[in-house]
Amino acid sequence: MDINKVGVIGAGTMGSGIAQVAATAGCKVKLFDVNQAQLDKAQAALEKIMNRLIEKGRIDTAEKSRIQSNITYVSTVKDLADSDLTIEAIVENLDIKKKVFQELESHVSDSCIIASNTSSLSIASIAASLDKPERCIGIHFFNPAPLMKLVEVIPAVQTAQNVTDTCVATIENWKKVVAVAKDTPGFIVNRVARPFYSESLRIYEEGMASFATIDYALKGLGFKMGPFELMDYIGHDVNYVVTETVFAAFYFDPRYKPSLTQKRLMEAGWLGRKSGRGFYDYVNVDSEHAF
Ligand code: NAI
Repeated sequence: MDINKVGVIGAGTMGSGIAQVAATAGCKVKLFDVNQAQLDKAQAALEKIMNRLIEKGRIDTAEKSRIQSNITYVSTVKDLADSDLTIEAIVENLDIKKKVFQELESHVSDSCIIASNTSSLSIASIAASLDKPERCIGIHFFNPAPLMKLVEVIPAVQTAQNVTDTCVATIENWKKVVAVAKDTPGFIVNRVARPFYSESLRIYEEGMASFATIDYALKGLGFKMGPFELMDYIGHDVNYVVTETVFAAFYFDPRYKPSLTQKRLMEAGWLGRKSGRGFYDYVNVDSEHAF
């Protein structure tokens, strides 16, 4: 099955990046969000990204307008009715995702593949909310989606083999590297990454080193970003909820125990880069630490 029309649900960090990837690969993309301001923001952000790519000589103006004209910004689920594939990237909450999927299924054709970009939720339980669970699959991009090569494709127990095959072929066509992962909490990368974050948070909480020192040490080892920079980049709301979900899903295995420090940041609305401050302060650039 050829995938030409792609519906993306949620125009936040991930949805806008996924829309850019699909549009660059030549698909007609409809990017949907309930929040008009997010759609405007996504459109403005893409304009900036395209201009930066032109400045760097990576694309020309014709390529810019080709990519931009492949994306339509829409404000109802109904607008996604003619999609061959939909990829959902809304808030990491199972009940909210299920509701959106049920509404979506009432509009799309029987052959439309319904995918979720969830970081940690069970694809089987998302699929169970659909009349046709065999069309449901996880397609997990990493942040930022246009730059990160890896995409995990996660079939649920209900997923039809031809759906998995189509998704793997499509994402490879989009010039990504695909790892097919089992539907277990955190899949591959987010499970491996949990101890990276939580052990760093523990070292900080025990007062053994400041978070800036921990970042400095890890970057000295060759990591592109330290764990605290990375959590600020991902967003503490997203990162904390993923840890909480993985912790609960593994029957409260202490290896995945979430951090109270991160919970406080989330409660304070200090979500990281997107809110202007997290561990670091992104507004008063002179001040070294926000926390
Ligand atoms: P975000 O908070 O940046 O964006 C979510 C968007 O969904 C917002 O624009 C919001 O208005 C919209 N939204 C909320 N409810 C909606 C609904 N009912 N219908 C349509 N739009 C709705 O979130 P982000 O970071 O893009 O994460 C989205 C998903 O991707 C989550 O499941 C997350 O776990 C996953 N993910 C996040 C990564 C990250 O680094 N931030 C990496 C990989 C996956």
